Amino acid sequence: MNKKWWKEAVVYQIYPISFLDTNGDGKGDLLGIISRLDYLKDLGVDVIWICPIYKSPNHDNGYDISDYCDIMDEFGTMEEFDRLLREAHARGLKIMMDLVLNHTSDEHPWFIESRSSRDNPKRDFYIWRKGKDGHPPNNWESYFSGSVWEYDEKTGEYYLHLYSKHQPDLNWENQKVIDSMHEMVEWWLKKGVDGFRFDAIAHIVKAVGLPDGDNPDQLPTVRAYELFSNLENVHTLLSNLYERVLFHYDIMTVGETSGLGPEQALSYVGDTRNELNMVFQFEHMQLDAGSSGSGKWDIRPWNLLELKKVISGWQTVLHDKGWNANYWCNHDQPRSVSRFGDDQKYRVESAKMLATFLHTLEGTPYIYQGEEIGMTNIAFASIDDYRDVETLNYYEEQLDQGVPEEQVMQAIWKKSRDNARTPMQWTNGEHAGFTRGTPWIEVNSNYPLINVEDAIKDPNSIYHYYKKLIALRKQHEVIVYGEYKLLLPLDKELYVYTRTLEDQCLLVILNFFGGEPVLKLPAELVPEAKQLLISNYPIKGEEDLGNLKLRPYEARVYLMKTPPLDFVAQTW
Ligand code: GLC
Ligand code: CA
Repeated sequence: MNKKWWKEAVVYQIYPISFLDTNGDGKGDLLGIISRLDYLKDLGVDVIWICPIYKSPNHDNGYDISDYCDIMDEFGTMEEFDRLLREAHARGLKIMMDLVLNHTSDEHPWFIESRSSRDNPKRDFYIWRKGKDGHPPNNWESYFSGSVWEYDEKTGEYYLHLYSKHQPDLNWENQKVIDSMHEMVEWWLKKGVDGFRFDAIAHIVKAVGLPDGDNPDQLPTVRAYELFSNLENVHTLLSNLYERVLFHYDIMTVGETSGLGPEQALSYVGDTRNELNMVFQFEHMQLDAGSSGSGKWDIRPWNLLELKKVISGWQTVLHDKGWNANYWCNHDQPRSVSRFGDDQKYRVESAKMLATFLHTLEGTPYIYQGEEIGMTNIAFASIDDYRDVETLNYYEEQLDQGVPEEQVMQAIWKKSRDNARTPMQWTNGEHAGFTRGTPWIEVNSNYPLINVEDAIKDPNSIYHYYKKLIALRKQHEVIVYGEYKLLLPLDKELYVYTRTLEDQCLLVILNFFGGEPVLKLPAELVPEAKQLLISNYPIKGEEDLGNLKLRPYEARVYLMKTPPLDFVAQTW
């Protein structure tokens, strides 16, 4: 068992523009974060991951950086950042920065120089190519719709952008780019930050020669993700970054890596690899997307057996070899209670059940702001209320292709990133206490019901349940390090597993839906002496787990002596 502080930690993710506004401009800011450090300390989390706060023209809410070593005007100043770091550290909280190494803003001085002439010394900091007979250099489709290539009049060439055209990709084949990036990462480390989330890190290397993606339908663009995701040289670059810079600091790192399974993830997070501590995988986020790469906007219902298969794969393959980053939601995903729970009748029960799952898997749990009070998706009637560049591009593209608006809005309501970006709901007062001005994006109208202030007052709230789960992690090592084994693999409603560490065993029982299925666990597995650590319903006295009707979205976690191992192995 390879113990590390970041394995024992709980991370809380802040999307600063929607967290808390202190100067009335309708956008969250650093002072807002500082003023809620006590709230986070009280919740019990250890690390705060802050989405990008660097200088940025904000085409993609800060993921388009124009100066890596300065703070976005809207968010505040470097002095305020230093204060945030000091005040967090004073409370024993760590700060994890979100760094975008794959691309910059098109307003970054490097890009301004790069596009100024073909022989500018910075030309080669980005990826420029000539067109093919008036067409883009290849047929790759951008994550944010349309071609990855943008034609630039001035020099008559195209530049590559995997995301929006305001986010040109850096050329990691250029040693000067590599050196500049290392220097910048070190600059932040010297300031004392405690870790990094490396944005879109899987994509910093593109296939040699930038070949066309397979395109049997002769569409103008194709989702050729395999030609720019997780290629071998990403590992060379990451181990180089590790050896030259990261190795010298006791920090935590997580990479955003779409498009891989657990075996492949080991090449990033394997104990012997010296690259990253953990990665954000996407397999469970694709369970309700169109089949095989047809995209996140194509909706399909998810099912529990597939979820068990995906999660069990990650839990089993990474055990003792690497480490998982577990999450249900972030600033790019719909709200988890709306997506995997029931955000109406059983909002509280299902949010607690999902929380139980998040906190009792092996891996570091990541809580996204508002998840701890069960915030839900938003469905704005008009596209005018949406702000996200990905959503707006998708809307336009679909309408251009003649798809009825009603159908496009259905997809947006389910999957838009703005679902998770509406302001944090602090109080039941105006604008949910987020701002005294006009919020940059509308507040979800359910704030009188769902807000922090009321949640703190209610001992049965989702908030208090999160607090308890976080506290349990600090008390029981088995929650952090125990080995996962799936039970009842074919049950379509119940997700049941154990986590075992020597003679300690955790038994986790989750009813994933609104029905009342009967749990039948073999007697060998459930000794009489067991301690209920947490549950989302009141439980009266001893109950027979060999035959027990569960309530909608019921979750229970028991601590008991490890049953005979061969028995658990058999069940698996
Ligand atoms: C990552 C971020 C996302 C951003 C994109 C481009 O996926 O999480 O918010 O739009 O990278 O930087
Ligand atoms: Ca503000």
